[in-house]
Amino acid sequence: MSSAPDIPVDRQAALAFDLKRLDAAFLADPFPLYRALREHDPIHRMPDGSYFLSRYDDCAAVYRDPETWSSDKRHDFRPNFADSLLYEHHTTSLVFNDPPYHSRVRKLLAPAFAPRALAALQPRIEALVDRLIDRALARCADGGAVDLIEDFAAAIPVQLIGDMLGIPPDERGPLLGWSLAILGALEPVLSPEQFSRGVAAVAEFKAYLRDLVDRRRREQRRDESEILSTLIAASAFAVSASGAEERLSELELLHNCIFILNAGHETTTNLIGNGVDLLIRHPDAQRELRAAPGLIASAVEEFLRMESSNQLGNRRAARDTTLGGIAMPRGTYVHIGIGAANRDPAQFPDPDRLDLARRPNRHLAFGTGIHACAGLSLARMEGQVAIGRLVARCGTIAPAGAPTRSGRARFRGFLRYPVRLRRP
Ligand code: HEM
Repeated sequence: MSSAPDIPVDRQAALAFDLKRLDAAFLADPFPLYRALREHDPIHRMPDGSYFLSRYDDCAAVYRDPETWSSDKRHDFRPNFADSLLYEHHTTSLVFNDPPYHSRVRKLLAPAFAPRALAALQPRIEALVDRLIDRALARCADGGAVDLIEDFAAAIPVQLIGDMLGIPPDERGPLLGWSLAILGALEPVLSPEQFSRGVAAVAEFKAYLRDLVDRRRREQRRDESEILSTLIAASAFAVSASGAEERLSELELLHNCIFILNAGHETTTNLIGNGVDLLIRHPDAQRELRAAPGLIASAVEEFLRMESSNQLGNRRAARDTTLGGIAMPRGTYVHIGIGAANRDPAQFPDPDRLDLARRPNRHLAFGTGIHACAGLSLARMEGQVAIGRLVARCGTIAPAGAPTRSGRARFRGFLRYPVRLRRP
C-alpha cells in the first residue's frame, strides 16, 4: 500500500476554478484541485453561474432527487450543438432525459442487462481476454512491447458490446472512432473540429444502424440476449410491438442503440487502463493482488473510486431548492464532481490511499439513483476478468515508455500506454 504524494494547493486556485479553462496539469492530475475545492469552496460558483460540487454528500443528494434535479438537456445542449445531429442524438438518449421517457426506455432495456444475459456473456469475455493476453505475451517474448490500451483495454468492450447489440464482427471496425467522436463532443469546451467530427459520426452511425435494423427486420430473427432485437421488438414498426405507450419510435431506437454502444466503450476501456495503471504505480498492491486473487472484486471497486472513468455528471434544478445551505433557484446548473466525491475523506477514510480491500466502498463512479449506470454489472465483470487474468497470467506488467493521457476532463483515461508483459 502507498499514498499519493501530498501536493500543497493554493486556496486561490480553488476559488478561481473554471471547468471552461482547464490546464494540462489539471487534466493530468485533478485530485489536488478537487481536494482544495472540497476544503475551501465545496459548492463552487463558476464564472458562467453554474456550480461545481466536490463533496460526496452533495453529489449523492443531487443524484437521488431526480424531481428537483433534472437530466433533461434540451436547453443545455442548444448553445454547443444548435440543431445538429449531435443535438438530436444526445437529447434522445435515455441518460439525458427525465421520466416518463427515461423510465420507458430503461424498462425496455432491462432484459438485456439481466443477470441471465450477463452470465451468458462471461465465458465469452474470458475467452477473449485470454486470446488477447496470449497474443500480447507472444509479442513481448522477443523483447517487444504492446499497447495496454489498443491491444488490450479497448479491444474488450468493443467486441462485447458488438455481441450484445448483434453487430456482425466484420462490421465493428468504425465503432470505436464513432463512439470517441460522439462522446468527445460532451467535453466542457468544444472545438469546431470536435463538433464536426461528432456530427459526422452520428450521421454515419445512424445510417449504419438503420441499415442493420432493416436487415434484422427482413430476417425476422429474434434473440432475447441481444439489445438490438429487444429494442426492435419494442419499437413502433415492429411486427409484435407491445402497447403504444411502451413503444419506441425509429429515431428513439437508433439513438438509444448508439448511446449504449458509446456508454460501454470508452468508460470500460478506461476502467481497465486506469486500473492497470494504478497497479503499475503501486507495485505493492500488484503483488498483493497476485498473492490473493480473490481480492479482484473489491480491487475493481477501488480502481473505479480512485480513477473514475467518468469524472463529471450534470443536472439542472427543475424548481427552487437549496443545496448544502446555498439557495439554488430553478434553472441552476450543477456539475457533479464524481472524481472529487470519490476522494472525500468524510466518506472514504484516507481517500488517496489505494486499498484493494476497502469496505465499505460506496463510490459514485456509476452514479446513483434512477439513472445509475445500466451496464454496471457488465462493466464490473469485464474489469474483473480483464485485470484479474492479466495479473494472474503475467508475472511482470511494466511500463515500456511514457503513457499518453487522453487529456479529457469528463472521460479520464489513456490514449496510449506501452507496456512489457512477462509470464510468471
Ligand atoms: C466502467 C464503466 C462504466 C462507467 C464508469 C459508467 C458510468 C456511468 C454513469 C456515471 C452513468 C450515470 C449518468 C448520469 O446519471 O448522469 C451511466 C449511465 C449509463 N450507463 Fe454506464 N458506465 C460504464 C459502463 C457501461 C456499460 C458497459 C454500459 C452498457 C453496455 C453502460 C450503459 C449505461 C446506460 C444505458 C446508462 C444510462 C442509464 C440511465 O440513464 O438510466 N455503461 N454510466
